[in-house]
Amino acid sequence: MRLSGKTAIVTGAGRGIGRAIAQRFLQEGAALLLCDVAPERLTGALTALRPLGEVHTQVADVSSAHDADALVAKALGVWGRIDILVNNAGVATFAPFLDIAEADWDRTLAVNLKGMFLVGQRVARAMAGAAGGAIVNMASTNGLVGERRLAAYNASKAGVILLTKTMAIELAEHRIRVNCVCPGFIGTELVGESGGDESFIREYVGKIPLGRVGRPEEVAAVFAFLASDDAAFVSGESVVVDGGQLAEE
Ligand SMILES: NC(=O)c1ccc[n+]([C@@H]2O[C@H](COP(=O)([O-])OP(=O)(O)OC[C@H]3O[C@@H](n4cnc5c(N)ncnc54)[C@H](O)[C@@H]3O)[C@@H](O)[C@H]2O)c1
Repeated sequence: MRLSGKTAIVTGAGRGIGRAIAQRFLQEGAALLLCDVAPERLTGALTALRPLGEVHTQVADVSSAHDADALVAKALGVWGRIDILVNNAGVATFAPFLDIAEADWDRTLAVNLKGMFLVGQRVARAMAGAAGGAIVNMASTNGLVGERRLAAYNASKAGVILLTKTMAIELAEHRIRVNCVCPGFIGTELVGESGGDESFIREYVGKIPLGRVGRPEEVAAVFAFLASDDAAFVSGESVVVDGGQLAEE
């Protein structure tokens, strides 16, 4: 119950890793405001998670300043303060560099990077005027090493890592810690939708020393640590959760 009494926003919480983070945070005692751009996913998450604790929802596209304003206003209306932000929402489109469509590039950067800025800035303003807080951003091992057919995604996640460090430096005086998590291959719907068929997965697992794909709950556990007071002296850090993949050349 490390998050008992804390209030938290989790973006992209309708399914996948975001939903697993929401579940873990509820189990640790936090009250949550979940957001997702897909209303039906948000409804599904609400139904599944409501028995675990206090859950509010708001449909929001994190790449929209208007939606980010409304999200933060909702949290402040319900609780009067925000202790934790999990900037998790993200998208990926696979294409060779030579074929990337401008619209796909723009959407990827808008959701994965600008969305973290928009929501992060608004939440940080609220935290700075209160008792501070903790922000945990979703990066990826793709922000540390390149992967073919994911140029826009890789660039967005590399941006998240430096955005995290800069936020950590500037927001420290407001008692706000900012960290990010870099998962490797985690088994979610996103992977299947992005062209990850059986043979792709088999080949990929061969590169992971622990010999398997990661589980959303294993990423959620690291978010819970970074959001909690157990990480009181951790800021500006990027934690890799990849089964040892990047440890090997
Ligand atoms: N699955 C992996 O292997 C993996 C690895 C590293 C990092 N990540 C990152 O983890 C995060 C979650 O990934 P996932 O695998 O759970 O994906 P997912 O597609 O299963 O879930 C992402 C959720 O975000 C929502 N979303 C998308 N665009 C949004 C927007 N503009 N505003 C609000 N919500 C939006 C989606 O509706 C969905 O519910 C992403 O940032 C992704 O880049 C995933």
